Amino acid sequence: MSAPPLAVPLHLAGGVAPPEPPLKLGDSCTAVILGAGGDLAQRKLMPALFHLLHDGLLHDDFSVVGAAREPLTDAAFRSRMREAVASSEEIGHVPDETWDRFAERIFYVQGDMTDPAFFAAVKERVVQFERASSNPRGRLFYLALPPSVYSTAVELLSSTGLAPRIDDPAHRPWARVIIEKPFGTSLATARALNHVVMKALAEHQVFRIDHYLGKETVQNLLVLRFANSIFEPVWNRQHIHHVQITAAETVGVEHRAGYYEQAGVVRDMFQNHLLQLLALTAMEPPVAFRAEEVRDEKAKVLRAVRPIVPALIDESAVRGQYGAGTIDGALVRGYRQEERVSPASVAPTFAAVRFLVDNWRWQGVPFYVRSGKRLPRRVTEIAIQFRRPPHLMFPAEAGQSLAPNVLTIRIQPNEGISLCFEIKVPGADVRMTSVQMDFSYAGAFGATDHSAYETLLLDSMVGDGTLFARSDQVETAWALVDPIVEAWDARAPTDFPNYAAGTWGPAAADELMARDGCRWRKP
Ligand code: BG6
Repeated sequence: MSAPPLAVPLHLAGGVAPPEPPLKLGDSCTAVILGAGGDLAQRKLMPALFHLLHDGLLHDDFSVVGAAREPLTDAAFRSRMREAVASSEEIGHVPDETWDRFAERIFYVQGDMTDPAFFAAVKERVVQFERASSNPRGRLFYLALPPSVYSTAVELLSSTGLAPRIDDPAHRPWARVIIEKPFGTSLATARALNHVVMKALAEHQVFRIDHYLGKETVQNLLVLRFANSIFEPVWNRQHIHHVQITAAETVGVEHRAGYYEQAGVVRDMFQNHLLQLLALTAMEPPVAFRAEEVRDEKAKVLRAVRPIVPALIDESAVRGQYGAGTIDGALVRGYRQEERVSPASVAPTFAAVRFLVDNWRWQGVPFYVRSGKRLPRRVTEIAIQFRRPPHLMFPAEAGQSLAPNVLTIRIQPNEGISLCFEIKVPGADVRMTSVQMDFSYAGAFGATDHSAYETLLLDSMVGDGTLFARSDQVETAWALVDPIVEAWDARAPTDFPNYAAGTWGPAAADELMARDGCRWRKP
C-alpha cells in the first residue's frame, strides 16, 4: 500500500513559484586533465564538461587541455572525445551544433606525466590561452592518473609554476588541483601524500573528490536534516534504534582487477563513500552551508567514531567474497574466476561493519554499514530505524509486535525518501499494518539529467569545497578502516567464496545484526 507523495513542491502543487536561485556559472579557466587517455576522463569527465557547456554553465572563456602519453593531434583527440561523449551513459545524443562549440575549446598535449619537460609544454599551452584572454583565467588541474604518480604530479605542477601556492582564497587568477580517489592506501600513505600536497598548495586549492558527495540525494540529506524542523528533535539516541547504510552493486569487479585485488571493498567503498554518508547522517548542524563549517562538523563526527579493535574484529565486521551465481537471471562467474584475479584471491568483495559513535547524540546507537559487489540489486540507501513505541496498547496476537518506523533516504536509483509507519486496517477490528509514504525525485521534478561529476567540476570552478574531502577527514577515515584491513590481512579467510553472486552476502553478516536483535533490510 502506498500513500500519495509526501510532499510536492509549491509550484508543482499549483502555488506560487519560488524565485529561481541564481545559476552557478563556472569561472573563466583552463582545465587540464592529466591522464586524458584513461577511462575516467572519457567516461565521466569529458561527458560532464560537455553537459555543463550544453547547459550554459561553462564560462565563455573556457578551454580544456587533455594530456596523455599517446601522440595525438588536437583534431584526433577531439574526434576520440566525441566518440567517448556519445557513448557515455549520461549523454547519448550529441547534437552537432553543441559539439562544435565544445570541440573548439578542446586541445591536447602529449607526454610523460612524470617528465618536467612535459609539464613545461602544458604550461606553454596554458599561458597562450591566458595571454589571449581578457579575463584573469584560472587553472584547474584534474589528476585522472594512477595514484602512484599523484605525488610526482603535484610536485611538478608546483615546481614548474603551473600550480603556484596561493594563500589568499580571494586571489585571482586562481590555481586548483582535483585529486581522484584513492587518496592513499592507508593512514600512513595518505599522510605522506597530504604532506606533499600541503607543501605545494594551500588547502583551499585542493579538491579531493568523492563522487558520492556530488550525488543529488546525498546533498539532499543536508536539506532534509537541516531545513526541516521535524527531524532534528528525533535525530538522536532517544528516538533512533539504529542506522543501516547500504551500497549494493550488481556488477562484479569488471575490468578493474589490478586495482581491486589490492584495494578490496573496505578501501574501495568504506574509507570514502560510506564513511562520508555516515558523517552526513550523524554530524551536528553546521552554522552555515559553507565549506569550512560543513567540513568541520563532518571531521568532528568522524573523530567520534569508535575505532574497531583488531582483536575483536569478528564482533564488529564481516567480510565476504562472491562465488558463481545468478544476477538478473544470468549465470555469472565467481570473483576468483574473473579476469586477472588470482584463483586463490583473498580480496573481500563484501563487508559489513558495525560502527559506534562516541558522543552525546549517538552513544549506543549502532551504524551498520555494508557494501558488496554482485548483490541482488543496485541500491544505495540510508535507513534510519526508530525505536518501537514503549508500550503496545492495541490488542495484538501472541508474539505480534509493531514494526518500527523507518525513514529511508534512497541515494540511487529511484532517488527519494520514504517513511514507513503503522496504520489501522479498515474494518471493525483494530488491526494494524505498515504502510509507506514515498517521495520520489523523478515524480516531483522529472529525471535529473546532471551527473555527480558535473556538480563537482562546477563547484571546483567556482572554488566551493563543501562537497570535497578535507585532509583531516581523509586521514581520520583511514584511521578507522586501517584496523579492519590490517586485522583481515593478518588472518587469511578460510571460507572464501562465502556468498553466491545474486545473494545479500555471507550468513555471518546476518548474524552480526541478529546478535543485536536487528535484521538487514532487503531493499
Ligand atoms: C567507485 C568504486 O568509487 O564507486 C567502484 O571504486 C564502485 O568500485 C563505484 O563501483 C560505485 O559508484 P556508483 O556511483 O556507481 O554507486
